[in-house]
Amino acid sequence: MQRTEGTPEPGVPGAVTDVRALLEQGTRALSGAGARREAAVLLRSTLGVSDAWLIAHDRDAVGAESTAAYLAAIRRRAAGEPVAYLTGVRGFHALELRVTPDVLIPRTETELLVDCVLRRLPAGSPCRVADLGTGSGAVALAIAHARPQARVVATDASPAALRVARGNATRLGLGNVEWLHGDWCAALGDLHFDVIASNPPYVAIGDGHLRAGDVRFEPAMALVSGPDGLDAIRCIVRDAAAHLAGQGWLLFEHGFEQGAAARELLRQRGYKAIFTARDVEGRERVSGGQVAAA
Ligand SMILES: C[S@@+](CC[C@H](N)C(=O)[O-])C[C@H]1O[C@@H](n2cnc3c(N)ncnc32)[C@H](O)[C@@H]1O
Repeated sequence: MQRTEGTPEPGVPGAVTDVRALLEQGTRALSGAGARREAAVLLRSTLGVSDAWLIAHDRDAVGAESTAAYLAAIRRRAAGEPVAYLTGVRGFHALELRVTPDVLIPRTETELLVDCVLRRLPAGSPCRVADLGTGSGAVALAIAHARPQARVVATDASPAALRVARGNATRLGLGNVEWLHGDWCAALGDLHFDVIASNPPYVAIGDGHLRAGDVRFEPAMALVSGPDGLDAIRCIVRDAAAHLAGQGWLLFEHGFEQGAAARELLRQRGYKAIFTARDVEGRERVSGGQVAAA
C-alpha cells in the first residue's frame, strides 16, 4: 500500500499517525488487564488532553514528537515502571498530587486513614494534626484541604520526599501545613497534637511482594520496616503518646495481616478505645487508639 501524507503509520519515527492507532499500538504493547486504560492514560498525559478529548478526536493526527514521547512511555511501562511515575501525577482524596520516584505512590487504601482521621476532627474547629512519614504529602494535604482550620505538621526522614510534598502544597495553595525533617516522633520536638496519623512502611524485609509490580520502583525506605514489617509501627506507638493532647488519637495504616499485632502494641502502651477499620474488601487496614484525658 502506498502511504500518503496523514495516513496512519504507527510506530515509525517521523511518521504522522492518529490517536486511535496509537491507542491500539500501546494496548498491544502493554497487554493484559488494564492495558487499554493505561495506554489511554499515557497518551492523555503525553498530549496534555482529557479522556473526553481522546474519544472525540480519535482520528486526529498526532505529530512525530508526541508519537515518539508516547511510545517511549509505553516502552517504560512495558518494562514495569509505574504509570504514576511516567505521568508524574496521582489522584488522592479529591486532590491531584505530583509524584516522583522519591515518594511512594499514594494508595487508594490510604484514603481510609484520612477518613478515620477526619471522623475525629469536627469540621469548623481548630485542631492540630501530625502526619508522620508524609511522602508526597498525601495524608497531610488531604486533611489540610478537608479541614482548613487544622494546623498540620508533616514529617519525613527523606529530604527528597519533603521537597515533593512542599511542591504539592504550593501547587494546591494549602498553607496550613508545616514540613519537618526527621525520624518519626523525634521530628516533632515538644509539639502536641489532637491526632497523630501515619502510613509508615510496614513490609517485612525480603517479602516476596517487593519483587513484583510497581513497588520495585518505589523507595525501599517507604516500604520496608524490619524483619516482621512492624519496626516503624512499634517506634510510633511507643513515642506518639508523649506528643498527644489529652484524649488525642493515634491512627496508623498497616498490612492487612497486621491488625492483631497493631492492636496488641496499642494495648501494651495503654491506649484506650482501640479500634481497627477495614477497607472496602473487608481487610484490616487502619488501627488506632486514644490516650487518657490530661
Ligand atoms: C508508606 S510511605 C507513606 C507516604 C505517604 N504518607 C502516603 O501515604 O502516600 C512511608 C514514608 O515514611 C518515610 N519514612 C521512612 N522511615 C522514616 C523515619 N524513620 N522517620 C520518618 N519518616 C520515615 C518514607 O520516606 C516514606 O515517605
